[in-house]
Amino acid sequence: MRPSESARNSVANLVRLGESLLREDSNARLDAELLIAHVLGCDRVAVYRDAEKKVSPHHEQAFCELVSLRSSGRPIAQIIGIQEFWSLPFVVDENVLIPRPETELLVDLGLAHLRSLDAPVIADMGTGSGAIAVAISHERPDATILAVERSIAALAIAQRNCARHARSPIYLVRGNWLAGLRNYQFDLIIANPPYVASGDALINTTSIRFEPKEALLSGLDGLEAIRELVAGAGQALKSGGMLAVEHGYNQAMHVRTLFQQHGFCDIVTERDLAGHERATSGRITGS
Ligand SMILES: C[S@@+](CC[C@H](N)C(=O)[O-])C[C@H]1O[C@@H](n2cnc3c(N)ncnc32)[C@H](O)[C@@H]1O
Repeated sequence: MRPSESARNSVANLVRLGESLLREDSNARLDAELLIAHVLGCDRVAVYRDAEKKVSPHHEQAFCELVSLRSSGRPIAQIIGIQEFWSLPFVVDENVLIPRPETELLVDLGLAHLRSLDAPVIADMGTGSGAIAVAISHERPDATILAVERSIAALAIAQRNCARHARSPIYLVRGNWLAGLRNYQFDLIIANPPYVASGDALINTTSIRFEPKEALLSGLDGLEAIRELVAGAGQALKSGGMLAVEHGYNQAMHVRTLFQQHGFCDIVTERDLAGHERATSGRITGS
């Protein structure tokens, strides 16, 4: 039997219910609001504005199913299909890494290098959702960007985000890091590659277990992809060009050593907002 209109839950009641069911989650209230907004097809402002509105049984059931999905550990971004990055809403699914706030630091590093250059040519290696390429394109409409990715499923998501947000040409290319780019010369090669060690227990214990392993794992020490990128980037950079990579909080020293071994100069590591060494860059100068 369907509950009468007066017996139905209000938006505010369901948010409270969701919050209590998600109490293990540090963002329980926010997540409950995002889930009800997703189910009702509105934004969070409307969740407050329409707090006393009654919710249909159909929407209530859909909300409870999503709360249960969230309490199983699935990331909120995958449930609602959107993650904000660089103040833009990116489409995401289980085939791409959910863009992280610390990656905005890498974008900042890249943009700072591009400041003195007109019409720069950029490669974003392992573009995933397209987050880095799109953010740079947003700031630099004069740029030309090649965004390389091995996963076809990720490229389909990147395509949607580029179509929605890009302000400069972004060419999506299926490829294996720098292989196949021998005829190009870039002003900037930027990458947030996989950098988790394959035996790292973290991968099975937190919500990152829902993200694609190929976006996270990189050999026994987590440095396989970075090693390959640093070794190959010198050939693909113009004189004065920069390589900038994100890495694990405990990998900075190894990454700087790799940059030195491969002839980079002006090697700098930047810390993220949590104070962790998070992104390293270096430049190649002409011989
Ligand atoms: C850590 S995710 C970064 C995604 C996105 N750039 C971001 O910052 O949110 C790394 C990406 O590299 C891709 N990848 C892994 N191995 C690759 C390879 N050999 N060549 C190209 N892309 C690769 C993965 O599929 C994944 O999308």
